[in-house]
Amino acid sequence: MGVNHTTTLERQMAQHIAQLAFQHLTRSNLVREQNQPMEDGSPLIYAWPLDERVVLIVNPLRIKNIDHLTSRRFEHHLATIMQGRRVVVTNHRGIFVQVAYWPEPHRELVARPLDLNEQKTPLHVPIGMTARGAPSTSLRAELWLSLAEMDAVLIGGARRLGKTNLLHGWIAALLQGKEARVVLFDGKGGVEFNRYSEQARCKVVTDKLAPVLGELFAEMNRRFDILKVAKVANLAEYNDGRGAGERIERIVLIVDELAYALQEPGVEDVLVDLIARGGAVGIHPVLATQRPSSDVITPRLKGNLVTRIALPVPSRADSMVILDRAGAESIAKTPGRLLIAHGARLIEAQAFRVDGEQLAVSNEKQLPASTRLSAREQRIAQIAVERGWFKIRDVHEATGESPNYLVDVARKWQLLGWLTPVQRNERGHQLGRRVTPELIALLASEPGKPANEVNLA
Ligand SMILES: Nc1ncnc2c1ncn2[C@@H]1O[C@H](COP(=O)(O)OP(=O)(O)O)[C@@H](O)[C@H]1O
Ligand SMILES: [Mg+2]
Repeated sequence: MGVNHTTTLERQMAQHIAQLAFQHLTRSNLVREQNQPMEDGSPLIYAWPLDERVVLIVNPLRIKNIDHLTSRRFEHHLATIMQGRRVVVTNHRGIFVQVAYWPEPHRELVARPLDLNEQKTPLHVPIGMTARGAPSTSLRAELWLSLAEMDAVLIGGARRLGKTNLLHGWIAALLQGKEARVVLFDGKGGVEFNRYSEQARCKVVTDKLAPVLGELFAEMNRRFDILKVAKVANLAEYNDGRGAGERIERIVLIVDELAYALQEPGVEDVLVDLIARGGAVGIHPVLATQRPSSDVITPRLKGNLVTRIALPVPSRADSMVILDRAGAESIAKTPGRLLIAHGARLIEAQAFRVDGEQLAVSNEKQLPASTRLSAREQRIAQIAVERGWFKIRDVHEATGESPNYLVDVARKWQLLGWLTPVQRNERGHQLGRRVTPELIALLASEPGKPANEVNLA
């Protein structure tokens, strides 16, 4: 058994795992005898420790039945032997058994609401909660990745398992970041993305995608020309100040049902080119599909989609189409559960929940700071401030405004910091939102509303 060098802990871990695999292979009678003519003198297993996992390279000449070794059953069996560590076996120019160092934690990965405050850079988008690391450290991390790094993304998964939810989170983050332009196509005439049509930096394509792709294609070529003249290699260098002109904004193209988009003639060719070359000049395609079959995700498209995300899929074949490896067929069939393959890493995560209020955050942040209350809102604020609470039913009874409208107002005011989140009593019953000093101050400052008219008690 050979072991390449890395940190001591990883090396020990790799040794231990290789040892377990070695014992299992020999005990289950899968290995040819040492001194057969096939013997080429090289070890049965070569262990290659990487940062999160060890790759065991198994000598195929020493294996009796390679198909057995690469079967799902064997993979599962090995995972059990490995005390619940994730195991992936592939046979692609060699037999590779990848084993994670740390067992999957037993902790449930629960869907947390998206918190846009976690965004590190304007190009970071939320992936989800990961639960990895040594059980003793109880690592739970929020995973966000930069679109500049992810470059071009493929998202696949069965219906209703959270593709669009994930995309809403990305859009909200990009809009909050205010650095990228976002082009949105949902294949259903804008049903899913229409809510963003009023946003700055956002273009919702409601008709054909081809003309928009044509514009992006022209923009890509224009950018290459600019970089050439400026003698810089990529957009990052150009925007670092090495370019003479203005900053060039990144553009994120989000296509929610790739299969719809591909029905238009010419779309595939342009997409292939945008995927292959767009990244260098800051044009990043993100393609989602619920049909992970090779007639939608053609090899031409897939080649340069360097980041792959799979939500749960029914079969190993589907996982292979999306990730080029198995795994997505065996993650929990929970909405938002996903595997992301990025560089050499394969990470399981639970996407954040993006609800209506969350979506509103990105909208409301666009409001001018000097927002004033309309006459209608003043009446509502008056009632709320008098009572110290914004309780939908109370305000409805006092003003005659519809509960739906009041819920909208309450959410907006909460986002503006004028109301607290919904408070609950010890038994968990909702009490409503409390008025904050900001709302009191605002109401007091409204024209024709002297401060002493407001009952602060
Ligand atoms: N990360 C998540 N956490 C919790 N629930 C989710 C999550 N993602 C999706 N869901 C639920 O699943 C439903 C379907 O999600 P959606 O994004 O529309 O799926 P898809 O686009 O894959 O068909 C959503 O309405 C939501 O209720
Ligand atoms: Mg969808």
